[in-house]
Amino acid sequence: MKPLLLCSGSQRRESFNTRLLQHIRTRMPPDSTVDEIGATEVDLPLFNQDREDEPLVVGQVLDLHQRFTRAGGIVIASPEYNCLPSPYLKNLIDWVSRLAFLLPEVSQPFRGKPVLLCTATTGWSGGAVGLNTLRTLLAYLGADVMGEQICVPYAREAWNDSDATYDFDPVFQQHIDRVMTRFLAMTQEIPA
Ligand SMILES: Cc1cc2nc3c(=O)[nH]c(=O)nc-3n(C[C@H](O)[C@H](O)[C@H](O)COP(=O)(O)O)c2cc1C
Repeated sequence: MKPLLLCSGSQRRESFNTRLLQHIRTRMPPDSTVDEIGATEVDLPLFNQDREDEPLVVGQVLDLHQRFTRAGGIVIASPEYNCLPSPYLKNLIDWVSRLAFLLPEVSQPFRGKPVLLCTATTGWSGGAVGLNTLRTLLAYLGADVMGEQICVPYAREAWNDSDATYDFDPVFQQHIDRVMTRFLAMTQEIPA
């Protein structure tokens, strides 16, 4: 089975979005194959077309590109910064999506790929507004973005600052579980 790729849009050490992905991972069937892009793994410069063929950059982008390509589905959890997804995530997607223009043998990794959008924010909006832009971006790249999404407002109340514990109310937890069940069904529609 192809792995599910978990991709956080935050590099912050105690990121709520990364913790949301970890929580989602604990709710997946035990035999699930998961790949996760760690916060410290990505060290890409701000996108600059003049740097596209620098060997160190190409090497890193190629590795990320392969992981997006290999995935049967992608779960993204992005912070909302002033109503938009994080610049880190936008930059990562820009680099990975550009590789297909640079190397003719490489395909667009988002095309036809099931994507589930999630967000955790400390504010009231729960990040849903920022996900609209992320949805537009991924749809432009041909991804099959799931209509349902997982938005956690007031994240500081779900997790305390020092550990990964969470305390979702049962109704919200049921929402997470149902969305994940439907998303996993979507990913299995892709031939291995
Ligand atoms: C520049 C900036 C802009 C922010 N804008 C929003 C916002 O539009 N909506 C919101 O709910 N929270 C906003 N926040 C608060 C974030 O939700 C909060 O910092 C969150 O912890 C970031 O995600 P992370 O924990 O995964 O790093 C903003 C934070 C920063 C630093």
